[in-house]
Amino acid sequence: MPSISLTRHLIEEQRSGHVTPDLRLLLEVVARACKRISVAVGKGALGDVLGEAAAAGGGDSINVQGEAQKKLDVISNEILLEANAWGGHLAACASEEMEHCQQIPDAFPRGNYLLVFDPLDGSSNIDINASVGTIFSVLRCPEGVSAAQDHDFLQAGSTQVAAGYCLYGPSTMLVLTIGHGTHAFTLDREQGSFVLTTGHMRIPAQTREFAINMSNQRHWEAPTQAYVGDLLAGQDGPRGQDFNMRWVAAMVGDVHRILTRGGIFIYPWDRKDPAKPGKLRLMYEANPMAMLVEQAGGAATNGRTRILDIAPTSLHQRVPVFLGSKDEVETATRYHLQHD
Ligand code: AHG
Ligand code: MN
Ligand code: MN
Ligand code: MN
Repeated sequence: MPSISLTRHLIEEQRSGHVTPDLRLLLEVVARACKRISVAVGKGALGDVLGEAAAAGGGDSINVQGEAQKKLDVISNEILLEANAWGGHLAACASEEMEHCQQIPDAFPRGNYLLVFDPLDGSSNIDINASVGTIFSVLRCPEGVSAAQDHDFLQAGSTQVAAGYCLYGPSTMLVLTIGHGTHAFTLDREQGSFVLTTGHMRIPAQTREFAINMSNQRHWEAPTQAYVGDLLAGQDGPRGQDFNMRWVAAMVGDVHRILTRGGIFIYPWDRKDPAKPGKLRLMYEANPMAMLVEQAGGAATNGRTRILDIAPTSLHQRVPVFLGSKDEVETATRYHLQHD
């Protein structure tokens, strides 16, 4: 069996009518940008890529989330913007690292798609040489809009035409959906191309593994306390079985594990900062991951509602996240709905 490159896979999807030529080009460009980010991440301490980014006037650079930006947050954002500027397939980009969306420069033609990304996910892992990733989501630009604004991005996740992530781990992997299954490609570093290594990923419906930052336990609401408490009680509790815990601290890493062997990933609402309903961002973290997980037979909710049905109200909106093995996400959601 000859190996199937990302390019061949996308051409075949175009022939099947699943992807337009413009969307195919867009996904190729995102994949190329991810290869460049992979090279930058891989330089580690030998390149000038570790540590915090400096603000123009000195001190640390703080992004719209109120987080200190790492150098690689900024480098990855610039690589994605630059790679996508000239292809003619995009109307605008929005990113975790930019307060507002950025239109395609006037020098280039504008296309019909909107690209949203978390250029570097899990950036606290950079300086310890652990896995990080890039997450992206593709939306259609609303009809008749030539200069897309932030509000043009505010579409429910169910309207995404494509979503994916690139994991920069021991190997670099691109995991992609265009609404016809979730497929994993591994970067062949000698050839420089992504090769299909797992087509149609399937998440087992049941699991004995969960992922949550337990240090926030005292800030959770009662149903989250009850649900996780019952997982921790193991075979002595109402679940009647033991559960294992894993936490990569990069959503891309945790979701990749779940796509590979099942599990539930949770970043719940907590009262640490009542102004923020959860830590993760709907548009460029929860929505693309929810689409990938659903396309692999899993489920994704905010504890009560399907993530992909949420109507966004702002670009950087945060949302609680429960995603992964279908039966387990349904159980966690039931704890919350029964409590209301
Ligand atoms: P980002 O680095 O893009 O800001 O995202 C970080 C997120 C996500 O990747 C991860 O699941 C979570 O933060 C980790 O949170 P803790 O710091 O609570 O472990
Ligand atoms: Mn961040
Ligand atoms: Mn992130
Ligand atoms: Mn990020």
